[in-house]
Amino acid sequence: VGTLGEADLKGKKVFVRADLNVPLDDAQKITDDTRIRASIPTIKYLLEKGAKVILASHLGRPKGVTPKFSLKPLVPRLSELLGLEVVMAPDCIGEEVEKLAAALPDGGVLLLENVRFYKEEEKNDPEFAKKLASVADLYVNDAFGTAHRAHASTEGVTKFLRPSVAGFLMQKELDYLVGAVANPKKPFAAIVGGSKVSSKIGVIESLLAKVDILILGGGMIFTFYKAQGLAVGKSLVEEDKLELATSLIETAKSKGVKLLLPTDVVVADKFAADAESKIVPATAIPDGWMGLDVGPDSIKTFAEALDTTKTVIWNGPMGVFEFEKFAAGTDAIAKQLAELTGKGVTTIIGGGDSVAAVEKAGLADKMSHISTGGGASLELLEGKPLPGVLALDEALYVPRKL
Ligand code: 3PG
Repeated sequence: VGTLGEADLKGKKVFVRADLNVPLDDAQKITDDTRIRASIPTIKYLLEKGAKVILASHLGRPKGVTPKFSLKPLVPRLSELLGLEVVMAPDCIGEEVEKLAAALPDGGVLLLENVRFYKEEEKNDPEFAKKLASVADLYVNDAFGTAHRAHASTEGVTKFLRPSVAGFLMQKELDYLVGAVANPKKPFAAIVGGSKVSSKIGVIESLLAKVDILILGGGMIFTFYKAQGLAVGKSLVEEDKLELATSLIETAKSKGVKLLLPTDVVVADKFAADAESKIVPATAIPDGWMGLDVGPDSIKTFAEALDTTKTVIWNGPMGVFEFEKFAAGTDAIAKQLAELTGKGVTTIIGGGDSVAAVEKAGLADKMSHISTGGGASLELLEGKPLPGVLALDEALYVPRKL
């Protein structure tokens, strides 16, 4: 994709689409500012080059104008991180926005109100996209987390602004989630977890074509066990995915991928933080019990396999890590990946729950890359092109060697 250095920025009005969709509590306080912090390098770079930044984002999934989805609560944090007063616009299009944009000094930042206050945003309405674009000279998309959406501010707007390039965060996400995966230092291992195999089929299939080792964990393993004829007690099973599980095992075999399923599991008498629990072999899950984490033998086997790798990608927890009693498997992976990073292994945490697990373990700064996208990183790992990336200049992404 086209990059920032190529454009002449002095005095230019740059429409920056960021993903500032951060969680807010009931008092409208930001509970996790990761996405704001991740957007700062691009904005700072533009300001240093003398550009005027018109910053846009969505927040949540509002139906029309909804005060609790306003971007206003983000202004103090953004201002603090940028070291300047960010101006808040009352809207994302219209006369007032035009005036504020025109009055913006070089090196100034105007934050537009939630683009999803207009239904035209998600409809990718060309007229709306044109209005968004009308206040700017060029476009920078740094909203990796929203790049899987073909919306007006992520896709439509590029029809009216050239150049349209990727920001630093977008570039970094692509470097790791596309570049490192397409062109990995080998051996390359993937760890895929999560509760349902149905939501990870695409990712598993796509990674099976690339990895040397595939480690599976999380609730989805019970569908694999059942497909192999094992008893699974009350564990979560997707009955309609048994054949698929068998065929994924076959594919791994035929491609020479070392597939590791847990050999022991932590079972519980109920789905609760205070459940009774015990460790059993995967072949001996008792009636009436459910598996909620991988066991210590599995953790050891996984660790030995991971020790041989040069690149690891992780998507999805090993167990119900929200309950302390069933967090050991997930924590062990997080800890080991942090250690491997220190030894020069490329470690990539792709989206959603595994990111939360790494953050909970306090190891967020110990990985090569932690994705800011949930759905977007999943789609990218499935090998799907992202509309927000395709719309940029030189969209044909050439993986860079890391
Ligand atoms: C996310 O949180 O995954 C992105 O901000 C996209 O949000 P959406 O799923 O509401 O489009």
